[in-house]
Amino acid sequence: MSKKEASANYMRKQQAIFACPVCHEEMTVTEQCVVTCKNRHTFDIAKQGYVNFMTHPATSMYGKDLFDARKEIIESGIYAPMHENVVELLKTFGQNLTILDTGCGEGSHLAMIKKQFEEITTNIIVGAGIDIAKEGIIAAGRNYEDLIWCVGDLAKSPFQESSFDVILNILSPANYSEFERLLKPNGVVVKVVPQSGYLRQLRELFYADSDKESYSNDRTVERFKEHFSDVEVKRITQTVTIAPEMVSMLIYMTPMGWHQTADTSSNQVEEITIDLDILIGKV
Ligand SMILES: C[S@@+](CC[C@H](N)C(=O)[O-])C[C@H]1O[C@@H](n2cnc3c(N)ncnc32)[C@H](O)[C@@H]1O
Ligand SMILES: [Zn+2]
Repeated sequence: MSKKEASANYMRKQQAIFACPVCHEEMTVTEQCVVTCKNRHTFDIAKQGYVNFMTHPATSMYGKDLFDARKEIIESGIYAPMHENVVELLKTFGQNLTILDTGCGEGSHLAMIKKQFEEITTNIIVGAGIDIAKEGIIAAGRNYEDLIWCVGDLAKSPFQESSFDVILNILSPANYSEFERLLKPNGVVVKVVPQSGYLRQLRELFYADSDKESYSNDRTVERFKEHFSDVEVKRITQTVTIAPEMVSMLIYMTPMGWHQTADTSSNQVEEITIDLDILIGKV
């Protein structure tokens, strides 16, 4: 069976979560590997096993090289404490879960969280990832099976209301009204945002003596609390040694063009700090 057919079969079992991004009707995943509504708005499943639900053109500053770098960095394990925390939280549901990763990029966070969760519980995760950057979703489709990968804009997402137990939003822009629409009544949003020490060593390298050296997420946390109830904030801080060849990967995985402005010739970065807040809230 081709990858495309395998994805179509997997998506068909979950087709109740889809809503047409044009007319909002229910959708069907056909034997011909297309996702379609009764008004014949039709979206093909690509050979890498993802679906492009975009209804308007979008440009992204995130390209293939950035996503390749993010995959290597995430797989190197530097986000492991964050993944463990999220898995612990998911375990507390004590049931199978439907999860949407919003702004999932190349999909490694969702794939690793699903794998770890399923290793330590008897429950399963039905997971979907959405991102406006096609290059990210192509990589996700190519690398991770048994997950649903969608190119799409969160502002026009292809999902029915009340479809997800958990929404993940990791280092990505949020759309809170959409999160509220998509979550089931007891659903939870898990948003991961940088804290002041996040990638500190890189920032020092690039922005020495400038304001950008320090960073506060106060406003983001405040906005999150305005939208969700019972908010919990968990801080994850860890400094790890990194191999020299990972430094350029780290620089490359950021969208800020740091690689253009920095003098990395002396390459004095030997360790890196991961400093994140995990914001957990209920609808
Ligand atoms: C910094 S990246 C993080 C990606 C991934 N979560 C990770 O940590 O590797 C932010 C992501 O948000 C996506 N994004 C931005 N606006 C979006 C939108 N309106 N709808 C869907 N994705 C969006 C970008 O394309 C990008 O992949
Ligand atoms: Zn339609």
